[in-house]
Amino acid sequence: MVAKSGMGSGLICNPSKINDILERAHSQTDILVSMKMRMGYEHAQEILEVFPILDQYPLKNIAIHARIGKQLYKGPVDLEAFERCIGSTRHKLYYNGDITSVEAFKAMQARFPTLDHFMIGRGLIADPFLPSMIKNNTSSYPDNRWEIFSAFHDTIYQQYDDYLSGPTPIKLKMLGFWEFFSQSTSNPQKTFKAIKNATNPFK
Ligand SMILES: Cc1cc2nc3c(=O)[nH]c(=O)nc-3n(C[C@H](O)[C@H](O)[C@H](O)COP(=O)(O)O)c2cc1C
Repeated sequence: MVAKSGMGSGLICNPSKINDILERAHSQTDILVSMKMRMGYEHAQEILEVFPILDQYPLKNIAIHARIGKQLYKGPVDLEAFERCIGSTRHKLYYNGDITSVEAFKAMQARFPTLDHFMIGRGLIADPFLPSMIKNNTSSYPDNRWEIFSAFHDTIYQQYDDYLSGPTPIKLKMLGFWEFFSQSTSNPQKTFKAIKNATNPFK
């Protein structure tokens, strides 16, 4: 696991290494850096020790996945720890974690009213309509939901088909998507099982 080697979320325990990376990025390039972080690896206070370093650089933003590294993707997001981050850095913060519905988004927006950016990961893959529904403040899908989804799906499929050879690698790629897509269907387990058992692209 990369975190165990001090990379990914494991890097957060090493503020001086973060400083080295940012120093090189800023002295050797003119890229405007944005950060994506957890709140810590072992505990959610670790990020507070990193903010003074981050505050020395002109970052675009810091997106924070409100879990710690050792949680992986499981267990609850820690909203109290995320709240402590607000006001502890001069940088713009984006909230990230478990926004899987319009209601969940509204709850986060109400909880963190000073934030104007939210990042969506798995919820977006599970339901590609979610960002537009949030933007339009509606829980209704377009009438041609499945037509739009089908075209979106086929575009992804086609692009993998163009550079992968044979049905098995394409199926493996698409299964990764379907693990999430199936969550937006009325029977996620049955849908995912049907895709897993499919023996050709048209069944
Ligand atoms: C399959 C998968 C791959 C991911 N890859 C990355 C990655 O390469 N870099 C990264 O910063 N976060 C990555 N993440 C984490 C997400 O960006 C996000 O922080 C996390 O899933 C929590 O947000 P969510 O609850 O909206 O999904 C990944 C997540 C998943 C599920």
